[in-house]
Amino acid sequence: MGDPREGILRFFPGNASAPLSPGDTILAHAIRAGIPILSPCGGEGRCGKCRISVSGNVRGGDDPGVLSPEERRAGTRLACRCTPLGGEVGITVLPESRPARLSAYIEGKETAEDGPYLPLHVVPGKGNPLGVALDAGTSTLAGALIDLRNGSVLARAAADNPQMACGEDLISRIVFVEENPDGLALLRRLLLQGIGQVISDLLRSSSLTGEIVEFVAAGNTVVSHILYGLSPAPMRRPPHRPTLREYPAKTGKDLGIASAPSARLRIFPSIGGFVGGDIVSGILASGMHREDAVSLFYDVGTNGEVALGNREFRIACSSSAGPAFEGGEVACGMRAYPGAIDSVRIDPSSFEVSWTVIGGDKPSGVCGSGILDLCAELFRAGLIDRAGRFVPRAGAPFRDTDRGKAFIVARAGQNATDADILFTASDLKSVIRTKAALCAAAEALLEAVGFSREKVERVYIAGGFGNFLDLRSALTLGVFPPFPLEKFVLLGNASLAGAIGAIRNRKRWEEACALCASTDHHDLSSDLGFMELYQRALFIPHTDAERYSASLSPEATR
Ligand code: FES
Repeated sequence: MGDPREGILRFFPGNASAPLSPGDTILAHAIRAGIPILSPCGGEGRCGKCRISVSGNVRGGDDPGVLSPEERRAGTRLACRCTPLGGEVGITVLPESRPARLSAYIEGKETAEDGPYLPLHVVPGKGNPLGVALDAGTSTLAGALIDLRNGSVLARAAADNPQMACGEDLISRIVFVEENPDGLALLRRLLLQGIGQVISDLLRSSSLTGEIVEFVAAGNTVVSHILYGLSPAPMRRPPHRPTLREYPAKTGKDLGIASAPSARLRIFPSIGGFVGGDIVSGILASGMHREDAVSLFYDVGTNGEVALGNREFRIACSSSAGPAFEGGEVACGMRAYPGAIDSVRIDPSSFEVSWTVIGGDKPSGVCGSGILDLCAELFRAGLIDRAGRFVPRAGAPFRDTDRGKAFIVARAGQNATDADILFTASDLKSVIRTKAALCAAAEALLEAVGFSREKVERVYIAGGFGNFLDLRSALTLGVFPPFPLEKFVLLGNASLAGAIGAIRNRKRWEEACALCASTDHHDLSSDLGFMELYQRALFIPHTDAERYSASLSPEATR
């Protein structure tokens, strides 16, 4: 930790301060001080999302390869490339780089009945017994407070996962653990800080006071390992196995959850590799494991996981899709927070662009559903070809940038930033890679069990992104295989819904453990046919355009 006599950093908004530690970047200072700054690439200077403006003596961060000339002229810098040199340094985290919260991430449709109220385990405590259900997501921590006397939900709350400061995707976080001697401890501390924030928000908004005696967490394998104090590093290399698939129950005190020390804490077991307890919990909420009908289950978030099956069999995989649908890996991308463009229309004759913005104000970026709409509309308007390349037609709002051709989504005067909101050719490639990985993962599962698509009766879509998704846009691009629209069921945050169900009814917890044990993990990295399926899905909507467009009406595909 630095000596405050050498310098001090002041972060805005909030006016939090941190002593200067010579040689460290501003992002490293912010992480230590618990100041949230988006940093999807984990501080490697690639994503351009850790934007700040600075007053005082600093070096670097004005990278021409990542920031546009306008941004550099306006004094924007990258926190991960900028080093404070001494004295007092004022840092303003720019609005588009500040994580925020969104209530939509906490709503989940409980499609399957939780059954009679049968609490897991209620120990006598101080006052009313309370339970916490937590969806420990890569980007968002979403929780619910349960009255254990009757199973009712008293409050819901969500916060950004502060681990985002160490990388937006799971691989970046594993690399962070491997490259920093105290990386695991720091990631764990950030996670506990985020969980503490969710719990305090839950308790503050509940009319009932009491003691938290039950805690059920559903998370992906990496976040679950970190919560349990285990390094996720082994999962990065073949055979990509987690150290533990089941996590014996501990107390909140054992795991460092200060606001629930006496709670019994259970973490949903993992299916394997990158298919974690959040998928087990999501399947539990969908009820697909209790049905005769064969269903597909998609969890589309920062990562993408897919499961296929019914009461007799299940198989699941991780699609290695990038975070493009959570706004990551896309220059103008942001999460679905106020100020995000969430739907886009392009007039196919005038190429005029119109959009809606969450919160109704001027936009500062585009969230996943907006990105999906944007790509689908560009395709319908003939401004993207089937190979995923821009087709700059006369009158269409394209612009040359130092990163190549870009489509102008919103001009500087129309939005909340000082520059045009641009969608570049490399953004388009990220979206297409993400959609191809998701689509090919489902095709690979169907091939693995020898099923045709016609056998699938339902397609469940879970995850925050699923709340806002325009299915017609998704099918136009080929994000999913061409199922009829009526087969889709949007679940919202199914992982949280499953955790709530497991707190309310102990049989559901037992069911989750059993369904996890009987679900096969399909490792796509050793599936020889996957790469071909992926290559075919890199087209819009697919190399087999006729079959892939069949689920949409002609107007929808234009
Ligand atoms: S460019 Fe700074 S975190 Fe990605």
